[in-house]
Amino acid sequence: MSIKRVTILFSGEGGNLENIIKKLHPHTIEIVAAITNNPLANGIPKAQKLGIETIVIDHRDFKKREEFDQALVKIITPLNIDLAILAGFMRILTPVFTDNIKAINIHPSLLPLFKGAHAIEESFNSNMKVAGVSTHLVNSQLDSGDIIDQVCFNKEDMDFQTFKNKITQIEHELFPKSIKKVLLL
Ligand code: GAR
Repeated sequence: MSIKRVTILFSGEGGNLENIIKKLHPHTIEIVAAITNNPLANGIPKAQKLGIETIVIDHRDFKKREEFDQALVKIITPLNIDLAILAGFMRILTPVFTDNIKAINIHPSLLPLFKGAHAIEESFNSNMKVAGVSTHLVNSQLDSGDIIDQVCFNKEDMDFQTFKNKITQIEHELFPKSIKKVLLL
């Protein structure tokens, strides 16, 4: 069986990006490119150091979301990938993207709770006793496609730094597993 080809989209730190490259590339999956909308993303040198080609496409160069998504699809289609992995890619995608590219996302909350860009803070500050991480298929609604996996933990008595570390630790265990599950590996 041929190795599955993927691309990873990211916007910032690139912690999940780095973790996925180190754990899965190139024997389990081939990461053919890492794509970012942020020319200053800290993930860029991380990917490059690990030998992954990085492509920058700045969303601020486009007037409409659909135009940015069209340009993304134009970059991704010739890469001939089996899956796009959104790892901290902080853009809302329109059907121009989601109707053409199969993608999965990781989100630092127990979806459908705390969608959006402030999930970690909102989940920490909520009166719930548990928090968690979700992976899901991507559709054109924010953080809303079918859930692939979820991991939950008790957050009682945790300070914010411990909470954030716990989310990161879970994300780094969960995302590679969900990627393999979706690719039937
Ligand atoms: C991660 O916590 C990821 O779950 C979150 O952004 C962070 C990226 O960190 N994604 C979302 O909130 C998507 N709505 P990283 O750049 O270090 O991987």
